[in-house]
Amino acid sequence: MPIAGKFITFEGGEGAGKSTQLTRLAERLRAAGETVLSLREPGGTPFGEKMRDVLKQPGSAIQPAAEALLFASCRAQLVADVIAPALAAGKVVLCDRFIDSTVAYQSGGRGLDRALIESANRLACGSVLPDLTVLLDLDPTRGLGRASVRDQGQADRFEVLGAEFHRKVRELYHSLAKEEPGRFFVVDAARPAEAVEQEVWHEIARRFR
Ligand SMILES: Nc1ncnc2c1ncn2[C@@H]1O[C@H](COP(=O)(O)OP(=O)(O)O)[C@@H](O)[C@H]1O
Ligand SMILES: [Mg+2]
Repeated sequence: MPIAGKFITFEGGEGAGKSTQLTRLAERLRAAGETVLSLREPGGTPFGEKMRDVLKQPGSAIQPAAEALLFASCRAQLVADVIAPALAAGKVVLCDRFIDSTVAYQSGGRGLDRALIESANRLACGSVLPDLTVLLDLDPTRGLGRASVRDQGQADRFEVLGAEFHRKVRELYHSLAKEEPGRFFVVDAARPAEAVEQEVWHEIARRFR
């Protein structure tokens, strides 16, 4: 499968199944002979992993603008140090959250100006943009329920935000997918994980094979 050098991101709300599906896709791609690099945001670099703790801790009092810039900052580091070199080396790069998360959460959820968030994304990424973005679409109430079971009630700084916040996040994800239908693939994440996995795999084969 000639998908070397492709960049695929997973997006969606809390508990939608991003990490689950990323792992499953990585396994399938490796079995198909691809060299795969699995990443998550924020994270993937020593700097990013440190900032991840800060950004996720429920106790961190971070202003919305500071939060948006911190995510962008982690992204800039990850793109330059890890993603760009990996793509140049012909790896398939999978990333759990990327530019669309900041638009959905910091603009949709927090209410920051979308154009400013997009500028920060451009600064962070340059020309390194996803070839495909899988949007795992799920009612936030269900997603938060899954996340709560997964984390045994230990909610992070985003999971503790109310239903209204997560509803706005989902709405903005829908807008993004509508604006860029060529990049987005929207999956009904309420279906069993196996069914979602199959659908994603089918789409990858359709697009890149
Ligand atoms: N399609 C699915 N149906 C039901 N449960 C799922 C599904 N996908 C994932 N899960 C479970 O829901 C929880 C959240 O999944 P996860 O992949 O961690 O979501 P995310 O990374 O989007 O927050 C995990 O416990 C996972 O096993
Ligand atoms: Mg996850």
